[in-house]
Amino acid sequence: MLNTVIVGTQWGDEGKGKIVDLLSLHVDYVVRFQGGNNAGHTMVINGKKIISHLIPSGIIQNKKCFIGNGVVVDPIVLLEEINYFIKNKIDVSPARMKISNKCHMIMPYHKLIDKAREIKKGKNKIGTTGRGIGPCYEDKAARRGIRFADLLEPELFIEKLTEIIEEKNLYLKNYFHTNTIDAKSVINEFLTIKEQLIPYIDDVSVILYNGINKGKKILFEGAQGTHLDIEHGTYPFVTSSSTASANAACGSGLGPNKLEQILGIVKAYTTRVGSGPFPTELFDETGEKLQEKGIEFGATTGRQRRCGWLDMVMLRNAVRINGLTGLVLTKLDVLDGLDEIKICNNYKYKDKIIQEFPSSIETLENCTPIYESYQGWNDDISKIREYNELPEPAKKYIKIIEKLSQVQVKIISLGADRKATIIREDFFPKTKS
Ligand code: GDP
Ligand code: IMO
Ligand code: MG
Repeated sequence: MLNTVIVGTQWGDEGKGKIVDLLSLHVDYVVRFQGGNNAGHTMVINGKKIISHLIPSGIIQNKKCFIGNGVVVDPIVLLEEINYFIKNKIDVSPARMKISNKCHMIMPYHKLIDKAREIKKGKNKIGTTGRGIGPCYEDKAARRGIRFADLLEPELFIEKLTEIIEEKNLYLKNYFHTNTIDAKSVINEFLTIKEQLIPYIDDVSVILYNGINKGKKILFEGAQGTHLDIEHGTYPFVTSSSTASANAACGSGLGPNKLEQILGIVKAYTTRVGSGPFPTELFDETGEKLQEKGIEFGATTGRQRRCGWLDMVMLRNAVRINGLTGLVLTKLDVLDGLDEIKICNNYKYKDKIIQEFPSSIETLENCTPIYESYQGWNDDISKIREYNELPEPAKKYIKIIEKLSQVQVKIISLGADRKATIIREDFFPKTKS
């Protein structure tokens, strides 16, 4: 298989974990390149469910896995997740997984600030996952973050941490009027766990580059989705990293010429967790049906996901921003039993037709979707494994998505299980693999 980037095209939870697990079989390495444990990637193998927040989803297929420099890592959560995988009899030894020495660490004060800020914002809150993601990326950009490499020099680590905790405590106490951090206990905790972490720390960029030069193939696992991207998403209702495909290169320490195929994962309808505009959101029975049938609860926070029709204005935005070379359509089975299926192809804004996703949040909030209506199907498609066996209206739905996005649907997912998938004939190209 080509070196492949997997990105979400909507607001996350498109089913990236399932597809990464599925395609991992055809590569040597799997690397996460951005985000942190705000992600929740679900894999179901023979009925057994595994959720991964930090460790790349390729670990289940016994592939070498890497956490690239673009990821922010909560060391405590990482150790918990390592134990969770060990309990599930999955090998996550340092021989199988490496963390970039340049990864920034999510510290206890990041989590406190994330939560306190949301409380202070009240009804204007972003609806973050509360995992400290934003505050950690802030410190990275402000050049005061603590990286995994710092664990290798304990004296310097203690010095840096002491200095930053003093600043954070001032902020927590005087601005948020909340609990402060005890520097000594944080330092002791990190000095205790460092021995467990050190064997995992390495120069991931060098390993990946050397691997590619020896013919190894890589799968780049994106988290969140294009419309949660810090640059291109529905700012400020976004996450704090760049979720776009280009960051697969920078966030893992490789050049963009190593990215050979870019797959956008698109759910057959749209969901969103947290606050922010959502033009095709449904507040009726159909929305409830999608939520119930799709079991749309967040894999990280357990929050109920908001649901709505598929939005092609968003999908075309994702095609352009990510340079998508193919689509993976997931959760098509959730649409079973609907008489009518709608697709939004354009928005209306103040009597004008809008074809491109607006950059302004105020404009987006005032856009109404213009729908095209298609016939649904009554069949249970979840057991189908051949494209030709899909009911005609389902095939038509796929063709319309291809026509309106100008990108081919290469994989169709019809259930949570790894096996509930149709991979189309031309997916594995004869060249370059
Ligand atoms: P991710 O964050 O993009 O990896 O997606 P999540 O794991 O957060 O959410 C996707 C949910 O849908 C998970 O519960 C998956 O098990 C499930 N899922 C994935 N693909 C399909 C599918 O084709 N059909 C159905 N019914 N469920 C799916
Ligand atoms: P996966 O990888 C869905 C959302 C949060 C919130 C916003 C900012 O599973 O698709 P953050 O904690 O990142 O500062 O929260 O982003 N969010 C996600 N929504 N799936 C995710 O990841 C998400 N990660 C963050 O709900 O609205
Ligand atoms: Mg998820």
